Amino acid sequence: MLGLKLPTDPRWVNIVEKNIEEILTDHAYCEQKATSTAISMIVLFPEYTELVQAMTALVKEEISHFKMVHEKIIERGWVLGRDRKDEYVNQLMKFFPKGGSRVTFMVHKLLYAALIEARSCERFRLLSENIADKELAEFYRNLMVSEANHYTMFLGFARKYGDREEVDKKWQALLEYEAQIMKDLGKKETIHG
Ligand SMILES: [Fe+2]
Ligand SMILES: [Fe+2]
Repeated sequence: MLGLKLPTDPRWVNIVEKNIEEILTDHAYCEQKATSTAISMIVLFPEYTELVQAMTALVKEEISHFKMVHEKIIERGWVLGRDRKDEYVNQLMKFFPKGGSRVTFMVHKLLYAALIEARSCERFRLLSENIADKELAEFYRNLMVSEANHYTMFLGFARKYGDREEVDKKWQALLEYEAQIMKDLGKKETIHG
C-alpha cells in the first residue's frame, strides 16, 4: 500500500486504544505540522505557481483537520496537551544530505512530505479498521482518504519539478530507509510511534 515497504503491526492499535487522549494529542500536532509544512513551501518556493496554489489549498485543509481533532479532544472533556516528540520524523529527515541546488532541496522536502502522508494514511487505515470506538473509526476513515490524496500530490510535484528518473530512485531509497526506521516503531500511542 502506498509503496511502503513495511506494514505496521496491527497490534499497534491495541496500544493506541488504551490511551485515546495521547493519540489525539499527538495527532493534533501532526495536523498542525502538516499546515506549517504547506506554509513553508509557499514561503520557500514562491515562483512555482502550481505548487503555491496547491499548498494554499492544503493549508486550509490541514488546519481544518487540526480543528476536527481539537474538537474530538474537547468533546471528550480534555484540553490539548503539549507537543510530543516525533522520533519517526526526526529520523526520517536525516536521510537526504544537506546542500545541493534549490530544486534538489525542494524535491527532498516534497518526498519527505509524501512519505509522512503515506505512513499517516496507513496508520489511519489501521485505526479505521481496527479501533473499537465506532465514532473514531469513521473519523479516521475520512482522514485516511484525504492523506492518500496528499501523498499522491506531493509525489506528483516531486516528479514534475525534478528529474523523473532521479526522483524515482530517491523515492525508492527513501522507502527502504523508512522501512528500517519502522522496524523499531509501532509500540507507542502516537501516530508515527
Ligand atoms: Fe491532515
Ligand atoms: Fe495531509
